[in-house]
Amino acid sequence: MARISVLTALLPILYALLSTASPLADEEVEQFMRRQDPAIKPLLHLARRDAAGIKTRHLRPIVNNAKRDSITPPDVGQIANFTGSEPEPVRGADGAPFLSPSNTGIDDENPDNIAPPTTDAGVVPNLKWSMASSHTRLLKGGWVRETVITDLPTSKDVAGAEIRLAPNAYRELHWHRVAEWGYILGGTGRISAVDSTGKSYISDIKGPINGSDPDIYYFPPGVPHSIQALDSGLEFLLIFTDGNFDALGTTFMLSDWLAHTPLDIVAQNFGVNTSVFNNIPKTDPYILDSTVPPPQLGEASQQAIPDPQGEVPNPYVFHISQQEKIIAPGGWAKIQDSVTNFPVSTMLASALVYVEPNAMRELHWHIADEWLYIVSGKGRATAFAGSATSRTFDFEAGDTGVFPVSYGHYIKNLSPTEPLIFLELFKAPQFVDFSATQWLALTPRQVVIDLLNISSEVIDTFAKTKQIIVS
Ligand SMILES: *[C@@H]1O[C@H](CO)[C@@H](O)[C@H](O)[C@H]1NC(C)=O
Ligand SMILES: *[C@@H]1O[C@H](CO)[C@@H](O)[C@H](O)[C@H]1NC(C)=O
Ligand SMILES: *[C@@H]1O[C@H](CO)[C@@H](O)[C@H](O)[C@H]1NC(C)=O
Ligand SMILES: *[C@@H]1O[C@H](CO)[C@@H](O)[C@H](O)[C@H]1NC(C)=O
Repeated sequence: MARISVLTALLPILYALLSTASPLADEEVEQFMRRQDPAIKPLLHLARRDAAGIKTRHLRPIVNNAKRDSITPPDVGQIANFTGSEPEPVRGADGAPFLSPSNTGIDDENPDNIAPPTTDAGVVPNLKWSMASSHTRLLKGGWVRETVITDLPTSKDVAGAEIRLAPNAYRELHWHRVAEWGYILGGTGRISAVDSTGKSYISDIKGPINGSDPDIYYFPPGVPHSIQALDSGLEFLLIFTDGNFDALGTTFMLSDWLAHTPLDIVAQNFGVNTSVFNNIPKTDPYILDSTVPPPQLGEASQQAIPDPQGEVPNPYVFHISQQEKIIAPGGWAKIQDSVTNFPVSTMLASALVYVEPNAMRELHWHIADEWLYIVSGKGRATAFAGSATSRTFDFEAGDTGVFPVSYGHYIKNLSPTEPLIFLELFKAPQFVDFSATQWLALTPRQVVIDLLNISSEVIDTFAKTKQIIVS
């Protein structure tokens, strides 16, 4: 204790010295570091930092110990609270502060990586990927960034992407080996498609305009389609039913195909002179601008081509804004799947979940991998992998995650003021989940009493109906 107060008193002096003196010649710094840990080699450490061009000296071991109030006792696994100072790998008596610089921005966003709850145990692979960590392809008329299996290897069934289209720009004509599902994050657009029987479809798609919930769409595997932004531009999340989405043989662009087929064959196929195809793009543009703006929002029918086969039997667009909420004690949910309300979406089930401040998506699990996308807000989730193994992650807008099939989990809204809004996505025809509370409420009382040593009166308060989101 005495040593700490002496060091605390020394700090202003150390700072003053550091800002003027040569760091390597600075005996106080060296002594300071030796006192922290006799095993470290301060001169080597400082030399390495100089070589790396790092000039600032963080005497964080003392500075932050003095300020930190990270966990209030008793430590029951709550999130670390670094009270505004730089996060450190310290939790109560465990851990030790950094001696060299860490990536503070990433540490700040992931307090459960750096000072995990004491309930975390074992080795759970990484289950989180931020779209912000993805490479973004900037193109004429927009951009695209992805989360695929090389980014998040634990997500084998599902990959995701975000695409932005400038006003009136297109995602060019294409099809996929896998199913494609989309959620409109912003703006407005128009999709069109033709199915294997020649039935066609055209529809407008809208983001969360004026506070309403956005549209989603689904294209079955193989169904060729187009997507165009309307005059407000368009940003959307895409989900594909294969984590290895960039594998050869997954996406097929029309212009790419024609540019890589002998021209006389193309001409014969369409029954025209080869000169007709002289000006097609030699490389596929992926995204391209339009030369003539499309009819405005709500005027999609003006572009519909009379189709002798008629329209597809099941619409490819679903308007979440027209769906009833499932009201929960801590928020609401809207579930879309092929069994309940979105018949065409046979390979993708989804739920839009709204969690009120401090509320929580209850402890539950699924029979398929859950792919998570945070639309807005901040959340915390622990993935329980069985066998005394679990790991806690922190999420915010634009983050993706995966809870492998059967892993128990919750998602808690960390904000006392802002809602947490996210999507749960499954490569499955139907949304299915199991609730821990409902299970215990409907299990013979003595079985639960004997296992958990809680009273029958307490178990009586557990809800027999699924709560989905608890307050
Ligand atoms: C963190 O700790 C500080 C100081 O004890 C307190 O004022 C603040 O409310 C805490 N923040 C959270 C999110 O618990
Ligand atoms: C959104 O609200 C504004 C203001 O009330 C209105 O002018 C606009 O038409 C609305 N947009 C849509 C797509 O409903
Ligand atoms: C194809 O078009 C070119 C240029 O218009 C013309 O010279 C040629 O005769 C045409 N070929 C056929 C087979 O029609
Ligand atoms: C149940 O918990 C109480 C303390 O609340 C303890 O006295 C008792 O021994 C426990 N019973 C069993 C069977 O573990």
